Amino acid sequence: KGDSTVSITVVGASGDLAKKKIYPALFALYYENCLPKHFTIFGYARSKMTDAELRKMVSKTLKCRINERGNCDGKMDEFLNRCFYQSGQYDSDDNFAELDKKLKEHEAGRFSNRLFYLSVPPNIFIDVVKCVSTSTSSSSGWTRVIVEKPFGRDSESSAALTRGLKQYLVEDQIFRIDHYLGKELVENLSVLRFSNLIFQPLWSRQYIRNVQLNFSEDFGTEGRGGYFDSYGIIRDIMQNHLLQILALFAMESPVSLDAEDIRNEKVKVLRSMKPLQLENVVVGQYKSHIKDGVSYPTYTEDKTVAKDSLTPTFAAAALFIDNARWDGVPFLMKAGKALHMQRAEIRVQFRHVPGNLYKRFFTDLDEATNELFIRLQPNAAIYLKINNKIPGLGMRLDCSNLDLLYAARYSKEIPDAYERLLLDAIEGERRLFIRSDELDVAWKLFTPLLKELEDKKITPELYSYGSTGPIEAHNLASKYNVKWGDLS
Ligand code: BG6
Repeated sequence: KGDSTVSITVVGASGDLAKKKIYPALFALYYENCLPKHFTIFGYARSKMTDAELRKMVSKTLKCRINERGNCDGKMDEFLNRCFYQSGQYDSDDNFAELDKKLKEHEAGRFSNRLFYLSVPPNIFIDVVKCVSTSTSSSSGWTRVIVEKPFGRDSESSAALTRGLKQYLVEDQIFRIDHYLGKELVENLSVLRFSNLIFQPLWSRQYIRNVQLNFSEDFGTEGRGGYFDSYGIIRDIMQNHLLQILALFAMESPVSLDAEDIRNEKVKVLRSMKPLQLENVVVGQYKSHIKDGVSYPTYTEDKTVAKDSLTPTFAAAALFIDNARWDGVPFLMKAGKALHMQRAEIRVQFRHVPGNLYKRFFTDLDEATNELFIRLQPNAAIYLKINNKIPGLGMRLDCSNLDLLYAARYSKEIPDAYERLLLDAIEGERRLFIRSDELDVAWKLFTPLLKELEDKKITPELYSYGSTGPIEAHNLASKYNVKWGDLS
């Protein structure tokens, strides 16, 4: 509405996520004129701070991304002038009532909507949501709450968290973030699949031999060992980020692009997945390594990690979808910290061409496999490997890339995932947020495996910091005739 206002409260404003991601994303939206005309941003946290101190803290992480036009510094000042601070306990009705009073002053009787970003640990979610619902109230518009993982550690704890939240909120008010869904190339997956005739009919077991989802980071858990050690890489990356990509990749065509239609299809494909077998899973943990005179630490040397921790910092798994489209096609996932490179990508390997006329030109037909690479980061790109004749009088073939490197093709910088997600939450677009039944089915898939790993105290295979990960991961892939491939 023309004269409506949005109040955004960042609960946990002094934390890392708020400083590194949320405020910079809000500023970028402001810079791009995507925020409503009337808006206010309140930071809320326990520490005492004045508005000026909050602005100083926030200003350190704001970036002028779009340098070539406009007056960025001026915009920054305008933005900071709309940022305020309220200190308070996360479970204090009185403190939230004070926040409410200030919000109302800023809303100045306008039609008001409120967004609360819970940038606090999940064990505080319910306290905050209780205070939001009992001690604050927007005079007329909506109230929405953004929460971010971890949503529990298993089916049971996740269901308890959902029940807790739903004592105070209805499902439509809860925006569960999986920030991978806000990444440009993840959003593009559905465009690629459903609006290209050269892909849409090929998207099935008939033509696709295997799909690989790779996530690797070239740094360890430095500084986050405490959090990480009680979750591990399967809960940190696979059960959410990689599984969400898999669901978008493999779902049937939704009836429309409406959030509910898309989420219905995602739930369906996740429900069709076969239970994960321990023999189809490899876990690893990184150990120290000296490279070029620099010594990289062992995971368990982190002071916040138990010396005898069995928490995996690497995992590889083969997953299967038990439906007509994907029967027998391995979906291989690999996620690890402290590996040799920083990379997130999807690799699709197609089947061999039946009766390939040119097979004698290849020593191994696997060399002639068409592949589609979708690199989410860094250097977003889409590559298609095709067989091609090397120019010349003789007949020599070569597998070359048709490439779409985003930096070369598009001049505009890709927005950060949090920008898209915050904007969607303000606009009430739920497509990129996780519905509670999606979350349940994701946990249902991984909980038995996680319990088995923990009950049997499976020891992770050690791999050197900066390596390509445990050897067993390669054996797992070969079991399905796959070689992990990274697009270099
Ligand atoms: C987070 C994980 O969800 O994603 C981190 O908790 C990981 O462990 C991060 O580093 C990776 O996100 P991105 O956007 O940097 O790839």
